Amino acid sequence: KKVVLAYSGGLDTSVILKWIKQTYSCDVIAFTADLGQGEDLSGVERRALDTGAVKAFVEDLREEFAQDFIFPMMRANAVYEGRYLLGTSIARPLIAKRLVEIARAEGAQAIAHGATGKGNDQVRFELTAAALDKTIRTIAPWREWDLCSRTDCVEYARQHNIPVTVTKDKPYSCDGNLLHLSFEGGELEDPWAEPGPHTYVMCVPPEQAPDRPEVVTLDFEAGNPVALDGEALSPANIMARLNSLGGRHGIGRVDMVESRFVGMKARGVYETPGGTILQAAHRDLEGLTMDRETMRLRDQLMPQYAAMVYNGFWFAPEREALQVFIDKTQERVRGTVRLKLYKGSVTVLGRKSPVSLYNPELATFEKDMVYDQADAAGFIRLNALRLKAWNQ
Ligand code: ARG
Ligand code: SIN
Repeated sequence: KKVVLAYSGGLDTSVILKWIKQTYSCDVIAFTADLGQGEDLSGVERRALDTGAVKAFVEDLREEFAQDFIFPMMRANAVYEGRYLLGTSIARPLIAKRLVEIARAEGAQAIAHGATGKGNDQVRFELTAAALDKTIRTIAPWREWDLCSRTDCVEYARQHNIPVTVTKDKPYSCDGNLLHLSFEGGELEDPWAEPGPHTYVMCVPPEQAPDRPEVVTLDFEAGNPVALDGEALSPANIMARLNSLGGRHGIGRVDMVESRFVGMKARGVYETPGGTILQAAHRDLEGLTMDRETMRLRDQLMPQYAAMVYNGFWFAPEREALQVFIDKTQERVRGTVRLKLYKGSVTVLGRKSPVSLYNPELATFEKDMVYDQADAAGFIRLNALRLKAWNQ
């Protein structure tokens, strides 16, 4: 019997590795993804093997993550409950997809993860696994064992000689990747309490950002960012560069109480510097290049798309169908946006496109030759008909 475990190298997943091995008396294969979380993964394979894994895979998935997960979601301008840019939500389907693929290749019957029974992540991992392989089983130790807290985990680790490097106790539950870093739990469980200084990792506080603004340009093709300041960059490199730019200027912090899929409200603090810049630029370029009615339809569907991502329905027929629609709307989202970054804000300074729908002749307040202002009188009269009838 074999199980493939999503292994971070931290205390929790190390304890889980050992616990699964003992409880199910099976081989555990560890899988760790580099999604741009910026942690040093060089020791992870060793640590997994030392903790009892029979094999350990560490894979760099940054480009796939940016190109096939972050970018499609960005093309949709997806935002959950008005603010959350879905940084954790979008990473889970990729991790789960690789768990399933490795399970197949290694002849494993189950996958395992370290998400709790109270959160969204368990749902995302398991819906993805179910969608991709209906025979695969999932082991979620947090739903099964009797360890109840971090203290219990530390005690378990001590009893089982788990080589966990004594890191400074993290006061929050964090999840980081190329799109964001999240903080939940600890002092944040009081929604009235201000997030402490340890929640500033990717971003500086805006008041400590440089006093001089920075101006950058972003080029788009088919709704995807392709170049920064004229330099063509891969999807992962664009995200990384936008993160350091945005972070330096304190851009993209969100502190919110959100609705988890499983029913409770939870408080989260998110740092999404690059994604915030990207979304501001992308939305602006749509203003120049996208048809009005297409945009309105897309904007109505966006909250549903965001909920699909949040709730774990990435590999689902409804998300895939919507994606086809969204990608169609993006064919002409091409051009350049010039942005100013300054103390927590992104301001668009200008935009241009070879397929712009903006017609200066039509829009001008000066005299033009293409639009007959007298036409507007009839247009308004006809639109007013039903309003007059209603009020009679
Ligand atoms: N609340 C966010 C979400 O549901 C972030 C979850 C963070 N996950 C974690 N394992 N720390 O997407
Ligand atoms: C967890 O419960 O494991 C993290 C938070 C979440 O999944 O929403």
